[in-house]
Amino acid sequence: MKIMVINGPNLNMVGVREKGVYGTKTFSEICDYIKEEYEKRGHSVTLLQSNSEGEIIDFLQKAYFENFDGVVINPGAYTHYSYAIHDAIKGNVGIPTVEVHLSNVHAREEFRHISRTAPACIGQICGFGEYGYVMGLMALENYKGE
Ligand code: DQA
Repeated sequence: MKIMVINGPNLNMVGVREKGVYGTKTFSEICDYIKEEYEKRGHSVTLLQSNSEGEIIDFLQKAYFENFDGVVINPGAYTHYSYAIHDAIKGNVGIPTVEVHLSNVHAREEFRHISRTAPACIGQICGFGEYGYVMGLMALENYKGE
């Protein structure tokens, strides 16, 4: 499958920011891990990161126009308030999208318990660190459609 992995704001700072929450692996180490795990399973992966909402929406539209088979997205804090990213995921008719978070957002501050983007996705995975991106891929591999 042709998969797009999108990471949102501040995820490029993992390994530096709040190490107790996000761990000590750098973003580039996590990207290498994702690439290796996806390719090992026979998939091609395009890894994208942006700190800007509009650019994340552009990535999602690119997934549609360039016929990606699935998207794994960690929208960072946009998760909790971006209706625009919700709509962009919904706009990708037929492209299954999985939401992933490194941390268990439900065990953290109350504002993180709400996801505006997960209802547009086939599901949400959180709390398993970088392994969540592999779980997201497995969810796409097993997805049979609506
Ligand atoms: C995060 C959780 C979000 O609440 C937070 O704003 C992030 C990272 C995660 O991967 O755990 O930036 O998406």
